[in-house]
Amino acid sequence: MKKILLIAGARPNFMKVAPIYAEMKRRAAEFVPLIVHTGQHYDAAMSDAFFDDLGMPKPDIHLGVGSGTHAVQTAKIMTEFEPVLLEHRPDWVLVVGDVNSTIACALVCAKLGTKIAHVEAGLRSRDRTMPEEVNRVLTDAIADLLLTTSQDADENLAAEGIPAERIRFVGNVMIDSLLEHLKIAEASMIRNELGINENEYAVLTLHRPSNVDHREVFEGIVDALCDIAERLPIIFPVHPRTRAKIEEFGFAGRMASAGIRLIDPLGYLDFMRLYSGAKLVLTDSGGLQEETTVLGIPCLTLRNNTERPITITMGTNVLVGTDPDKIRDTAFAALSSSESREFAVPPLWDGKAAARICDELLSAQD
Ligand code: UD1
Repeated sequence: MKKILLIAGARPNFMKVAPIYAEMKRRAAEFVPLIVHTGQHYDAAMSDAFFDDLGMPKPDIHLGVGSGTHAVQTAKIMTEFEPVLLEHRPDWVLVVGDVNSTIACALVCAKLGTKIAHVEAGLRSRDRTMPEEVNRVLTDAIADLLLTTSQDADENLAAEGIPAERIRFVGNVMIDSLLEHLKIAEASMIRNELGINENEYAVLTLHRPSNVDHREVFEGIVDALCDIAERLPIIFPVHPRTRAKIEEFGFAGRMASAGIRLIDPLGYLDFMRLYSGAKLVLTDSGGLQEETTVLGIPCLTLRNNTERPITITMGTNVLVGTDPDKIRDTAFAALSSSESREFAVPPLWDGKAAARICDELLSAQD
């Protein structure tokens, strides 16, 4: 029987941890899973709503860390997590994704000699100005078991000298959650509440510091979005970081009058219902590039690079960067094209990744 601590810290972690936790609970003779919430995200809309929608119980341990600069947040997670690790002495700690909670908990484990499994290992944007890229590279360097979503990730890890015996291609566990909840999300009333019909709106998400923290960059993006919204209304659930910047820069009035509807962040099911009916998605999120690929929804990624190239080569994703003309022209081209783009679902994005992750943990040496 393996005791596993599952680390969940920020919004994009929760839909990755949920299917793994559920699978471990089903295999109760083999696993004892405990959920550790670091508290990196703490607003009800950024955290509790996801636990509820995903059917996860309250975390077994809550570190209550909260926001801070990178150093403060990472250090606080480490000092709060260390005594938990010493008390529980798990066989493995499983970290997911690339947020500060991922590297902070992995680093504590490495120093105390606890085995680390990293889910979503090996993704690389090759852009070290992204805090997530630093978190990814460092977590992979110290993890014992690297569980990957795509074969390009295996190649990235091999190129960094990580031995093949530590790497396992298991597929995309976030898609387990997507496929499990797609039907359930049909009960969401979000489209009715917003008064919108399928295929008659676009969805926007934006929260990368590189896009929203600098006035000139954000303003250029807003210019392009306002033009797009004149052709197709844009629904914009606004991340707290972005909300603060919109207020600081005074963009809200202009966006609203152009047809961009700023709404509060949505829970997992409401958001799924929203993007699954969109004609177009514009985003700088990592996860949404993958979710739109699986559902065949055109996605414009407002970044110059992506750590998820398979969403471009196989899926529906296009990188448009932050140049207003490029964003506008690519969106208009996507909206006027009558043919839907060919796409395919990447290998092992099949709803069974959690089972494969559990199998790999069972066969790995403690
Ligand atoms: C974090 C992750 C990012 C992920 C994103 C998803 C890191 C380095 N970044 O970025 O990879 O894509 O989550 O949302 O780990 N805030 C609230 N309420 C909350 C959480 C945050 O108001 O529940 C505000 C705070 O003002 C905080 C700011 O948002 O300072 C940023 O939060 P933080 O967790 O530092 O980074 P994110 O931008 O959310």
